[in-house]
Amino acid sequence: MLAFPEGFLWSTATAAYQIEGAWNEDGKGESIWDRFSHTPGKVKNGDTGDVACDHYHRFRDDVALMAKMNLNAYRFSIGWSRVLPEGTGTPNEKGIAFYDELVDALLDNGIRPLVTLYHWDLPQTLEDKGGLQNRDAPRWFADYARLMAERLGDRVKDWITLNEPVYCYSGYIQGNIAPGIRDRAAGMAVAHTNNRAHGLAKRALKNAGGDGTRVSAALNMSDLAPATDSPEDAAACERVKAKKILLFLDPMMKGKYTRPVLDALPELGPHIRPGDEKDFDAPMDFLGLNFYHHVKISDSPVKPAKLAPGVAPAYDQDAKKGEAAETRSDPEGLYRLLTWLYRDYGQPEIIVTENGMSRPEDAVADGRVDDRPRIDFYRSHLAAAHRAIQDGVNLTGYCAWSLLDNFEWGSGFGPRFGLVHVDYDTQKRTVKDSGRWYAECAERNGINGGTA
Ligand code: FCB
Repeated sequence: MLAFPEGFLWSTATAAYQIEGAWNEDGKGESIWDRFSHTPGKVKNGDTGDVACDHYHRFRDDVALMAKMNLNAYRFSIGWSRVLPEGTGTPNEKGIAFYDELVDALLDNGIRPLVTLYHWDLPQTLEDKGGLQNRDAPRWFADYARLMAERLGDRVKDWITLNEPVYCYSGYIQGNIAPGIRDRAAGMAVAHTNNRAHGLAKRALKNAGGDGTRVSAALNMSDLAPATDSPEDAAACERVKAKKILLFLDPMMKGKYTRPVLDALPELGPHIRPGDEKDFDAPMDFLGLNFYHHVKISDSPVKPAKLAPGVAPAYDQDAKKGEAAETRSDPEGLYRLLTWLYRDYGQPEIIVTENGMSRPEDAVADGRVDDRPRIDFYRSHLAAAHRAIQDGVNLTGYCAWSLLDNFEWGSGFGPRFGLVHVDYDTQKRTVKDSGRWYAECAERNGINGGTA
């Protein structure tokens, strides 16, 4: 058995739009995801999050399920347009009450809330005012953050400002997720907004939150490696690292755009005004890492289909649809990222804020879901995390993505990422074999190193 440090957080993660449903109930405003999924042709099979897992009405049962699974933490996000239908201005008390009751239910069950403020569902009213390209957006976000700290900060201590700011590429350059914009300048403006918004929200949360308030962001990082030994591939790999990882990590941990970022992204320059870096508030109190893939980077300008499996061309990393073929999972990649971040970024506390795998084929048979490959996935990644801890990394928690099968953005309900299966016709939840395995880990505070 591989034992984890005392107090280790055994958590799952979800996001508001992916599970809540109730898209227009109790005064909730429209978000860019409501608009996007309601636009024909945007989401696979025309799926929408209108109902999703109906978590808005079933949250008490879902919290009871977490308790049954021995989980001691839960990462969820607040729907900005549920609590502020217009994005700014008058709060929607019914929407706030939902999160208030959710937090109480979690705490009653000994589950620590890790709260994300922005998991991609911008209020549509704000989008209509230029959205995250508007220079005022960081202030809108900080005001929203302050409101939530005032209302929940007596009980919520751990805040995650933004989920994966790297969505500025897919949402604003490739346009395959909301708001579906295809414009390089827009993507760069949004990247810069995210860095300022994180900093201003961090200050607001610290000022308005109670004692012990801690602020982070959940940064998605792939483990990148050059496809060959050629200097061209090595350089391409460094460029992609700067564009996808350092673009956010450096402002949030070092308080500035570093040379590799400015060199790789000359088009960022026009969006930076004198004094903007004062808005960055570094470092984070703990670092949130979302990890999914090992990606090989090639500089060669060939079609992805012509590259070896798992090799992605660098030239379209942020420019075109059909981005990197980020297909390979690799637990060693998690080890490498954890040790690199700890060593090179001032020995921060780290929480894995997402890690998981999808299996579209998961189905209930005789009341069970046999998803052994997912158990192998989690065991190998948790073993890599354990090894990083043994080697000194201050990793204090792990959030499996996800608690429930849910709405997977542009892919709709096809991919199933849950530890718990959801029958979308009946909303019946069935804990998968992986969920039972994870529950045992949480109970013992360790993983079984063997194969069972
Ligand atoms: C991450 C997202 C999360 C979920 C997983 C599979 O990039 O943050 O919402 O979609 O991927």
